[in-house]
Amino acid sequence: MLKPAALLYDRFMRSVEEAGLLAWRTALLAPLSGSVLEIGAGTGRNLGRYPPAVTWLVMTEPDRNMRAILERQVRAGSREGEVVDAPAEHLPFPDGTFDAVVSTLVLCSVVDPDAALREIHRVLRPGGRLVFLEHVAAAERPARLRWQRRIEPIWKRVAGNCHLTRDSERAIGSAGFDITAIERASMRKAPGVIRPTIRGSAVAVDRGR
Ligand SMILES: C[S@@+](CC[C@H](N)C(=O)[O-])C[C@H]1O[C@@H](n2cnc3c(N)ncnc32)[C@H](O)[C@@H]1O
Repeated sequence: MLKPAALLYDRFMRSVEEAGLLAWRTALLAPLSGSVLEIGAGTGRNLGRYPPAVTWLVMTEPDRNMRAILERQVRAGSREGEVVDAPAEHLPFPDGTFDAVVSTLVLCSVVDPDAALREIHRVLRPGGRLVFLEHVAAAERPARLRWQRRIEPIWKRVAGNCHLTRDSERAIGSAGFDITAIERASMRKAPGVIRPTIRGSAVAVDRGR
């Protein structure tokens, strides 16, 4: 039996996707090519948005309910891809496997974002790209940030460990990535506490530099 959270995710996000999220996904993924790993792929919202230049697509998803929906989407055939049961903190791939890693709305939910980013860096080839779209702390809106802090303990419990106050831009920069493009925008039609987002691209650079 699938858990309601997984079943309700697409329904919960439908108006947000239509209000702009889908367009963001399409634009972010369009430049990708070669071997791509998507972490926390959820129900497969990005699946149909990968361009043909992506020749090998692997999607990890640790939640078995989400994974069941994802596998169904792959079988339905919108795009070929391999589905792997693994958390982002422990990726079962050798160093330097992928040209790009995709993380959309995932760094909020992982148990340990710094460990996840270390793993993403490890599995990327040198110069490979992390493409990200994440909701983040409302650093420039003190009233909203206070509200995020207040409800985060409850939100985490009901929304699959989703944190509202993470600073994913700082975490990406601290994990050996050069952020080469970033946009900050409000995710329209989303609940206010998850509206502030960042999206962009970062290059894996040598940690020892
Ligand atoms: C808000 S959903 C986003 C799903 C999808 N990436 C999207 O863009 O719609 C968060 C996803 O992160 C996954 N997740 C939670 N903890 C994770 C972890 N430690 N490693 C990888 N994925 C994780 C969840 O199972 C869920 O699929």
